[in-house]
Amino acid sequence: MPINGSDFDYIRKLVRDRTGVVIAEDKAYLVESRLAFLAKEAGNHSVGGLVTQLRQERFNPLCQSIVEAMMTNETFFFRDEHPFNALKTFVLPELLKQRQLERTINIWCAACSSGQEPYSIAMLLREHFPQLASWTVHLMASDISTSMIERASSGRYTQHEISRGLPLAFLQKYFQRCDREWLLKPEIRAMVEFRQLNLTAAFGPMLQMDIIFLRNVLIYFDIETKKAILARLRRVLRPDGYLFLGGGETTVNLDDAFEPVQFDKTVCYRLR
Ligand SMILES: C[S@@+](CC[C@H](N)C(=O)[O-])C[C@H]1O[C@@H](n2cnc3c(N)ncnc32)[C@H](O)[C@@H]1O
Repeated sequence: MPINGSDFDYIRKLVRDRTGVVIAEDKAYLVESRLAFLAKEAGNHSVGGLVTQLRQERFNPLCQSIVEAMMTNETFFFRDEHPFNALKTFVLPELLKQRQLERTINIWCAACSSGQEPYSIAMLLREHFPQLASWTVHLMASDISTSMIERASSGRYTQHEISRGLPLAFLQKYFQRCDREWLLKPEIRAMVEFRQLNLTAAFGPMLQMDIIFLRNVLIYFDIETKKAILARLRRVLRPDGYLFLGGGETTVNLDDAFEPVQFDKTVCYRLR
């Protein structure tokens, strides 16, 4: 049975209140398709039945599963390539020079989904910056979704995931076969510290970051939420640090404290 308008609005409000993610008015089909399985598991014949159950119990633990099911977790290794080239060729060499006395680099992937983005950075560091072996490197990765954080921490990927963006040389060097999947070697997994974090809430204690990846997540928020997140990020980004956004995202007209910096085919953002 198709979801009715009031049940659709209930799910939209739930997701927006908990994550900031805006589900467009014409996306009822998406709610139905993403929640059909959860509805069935909870003993309901329709998503409408699931919503009725939620209306009766406001603090139902199913709410978290519903919110997670509504997230778009699309990601792949070295996504869009150019930001990783800029990181390797311009940003890290510059920051390594600036930090040669402290010998510490802090990097944060702030919406890491199933982990391909922070692990791409970890492999890039291992491959191209061997001198960092004697530095303190914090590579933190977070997402709102606990199921994504669990998946990411496992370091296990399907053949399909491996075939998206990962150079063959990295597959051979940093992965091992594990049944029908591929497992990242412990030396790379150990470089990334995963944690659950909601970007729309206070971040809590946090290191000052040299590099922040906030890619392909701002697009899901409304303008006020984007502004609030950028304002919070400003406080954890070091004055000479760099912010990386997704290809369709920008700080322009949202937060004047940031200025775009072009590196070859990528735009990054710095504090003015
Ligand atoms: C499309 S993925 C982007 C993954 C990766 N950054 C990339 O560019 O490939 C968006 C991720 O943002 C996460 N997300 C959505 N709202 C969030 C929030 N309020 N706080 C933290 N993460 C959030 C989702 O769970 C999802 O994994």
